[in-house]
Amino acid sequence: MCAVKINLRTIAPFLDEKSLEKWYEKSLQSLSVLENREGRGNDYLGWVNLPSSITAAELKELKEVAGKLSNGVEIVVVIGIGGSYLGAKAIIDALSHSFVSLLPERKHPLVVFAGQNIGEDYHAELLEVIKERSAACIVISKSGTTTEPAIAFRLIKQHFEEKYGKAGSRERIVAITDKARGALRTLAVQEGYHTFVIPDDIGGRFSVLTPVGLLPIAVAGFDIEALVKGAANMEITTAKKDVSNPAVQYAAVRNALYAQGRKIEVLVNYNPKLHYFTEWWKQLYGESEGKEHKGLFPAGVDFTSDLHSMGQYLQEGERRLFETVLSVAHSSHTLTIPNDAQNLDQLNFLAGKRLDECNKMAELGTLLAHVDGDVPNIRVEIPAVEEYYLGALLYFFEKSCGISGYLLGVNPFDQPGVEAYKKNMFALLNKPGFEQEGEALRKRL
Ligand code: PA5
Repeated sequence: MCAVKINLRTIAPFLDEKSLEKWYEKSLQSLSVLENREGRGNDYLGWVNLPSSITAAELKELKEVAGKLSNGVEIVVVIGIGGSYLGAKAIIDALSHSFVSLLPERKHPLVVFAGQNIGEDYHAELLEVIKERSAACIVISKSGTTTEPAIAFRLIKQHFEEKYGKAGSRERIVAITDKARGALRTLAVQEGYHTFVIPDDIGGRFSVLTPVGLLPIAVAGFDIEALVKGAANMEITTAKKDVSNPAVQYAAVRNALYAQGRKIEVLVNYNPKLHYFTEWWKQLYGESEGKEHKGLFPAGVDFTSDLHSMGQYLQEGERRLFETVLSVAHSSHTLTIPNDAQNLDQLNFLAGKRLDECNKMAELGTLLAHVDGDVPNIRVEIPAVEEYYLGALLYFFEKSCGISGYLLGVNPFDQPGVEAYKKNMFALLNKPGFEQEGEALRKRL
């Protein structure tokens, strides 16, 4: 059984078979360009055959380091931003108990994140929390020069050195960065931190299956072997040169809808644990496709919560969007709705039914309502929120993204636009060498 299935049963009113076939053909061509490494950005394709190339020894080392780092530790602070943050956050949130921080006992440290913003309150409160607790840190930056994680790491390093001394800190810090370049590599070598390498040919947003994602996920106690296995099997499935390939299907349909003027893609989930999976997906597609004044705008909603905030817009607002529903067949727990003798809420017709059944009917009811409201729907189906299927889903979206970027005619593997804000921020902060730009910018404010 394929771990990820594309269900296009409701697409007919929006895309006829002939045009779908045309897009499938183009999508297969883009797959070949990707697999043959003939397209733009082809020096960043290390992720394509990554899952099948991860060895048992590499996974063992990751688990050993995770074990050492977790030993006697209550909190592990993972520092990183963008691709050096969202993958680990997405998978850990998806697999964790919804109230993990409130559990009376935990077998694994609590993983918290820093350096994904420059919020003063956020970081001050983090330091407050780790002051009284035993902590360790994983600092991640491919370039080793990104401002947000560097600021967070300064704070954590200083805190650790005051609390545990230099030698003690060395035992508690692992750095994941480029093999040779960047300030973080220099610092890690100087301080003697254990390090893992982010390969040169894998960009940040495609790095979740490198130590960038795998080490924090292992620290949180999840099965990285199953995650990688799911991805490796999806690597085989999505290499197929025919239209049974789900990555080819998804890339084709979203580009076909885009070409019709559907400029916004909304990723929908019905499981709050998938909120950060959507955030990871938004970065993957937004940063890969949003260039040269082109690209679908990736948005996300958590249903049914957001049906009570965004539902009205989705049903009746501007018709420039479509939805991709992340549909999970089975939930992990069983919970039925109780009977109530008074039945004041008149819901006894639901008594004995599982919450998941109600959720599924909300999902199907919404799907049909939105289709009737002129919102095309693509369904991406997985059997359960488990490591194996999540690994498959990660890789599926990565592969579709590569194909899709080529269909769109952009280089999906660079991110030139991310630099503009950094230049202005440095200028406004009086970084040496940016004085003139700083002055010019201040005049405009
Ligand atoms: O996908 C990307 O390349 C970016 O989102 C980066 O991951 C992000 O900017 C962080 O970069 P770095 O890991 O170099 O600190």
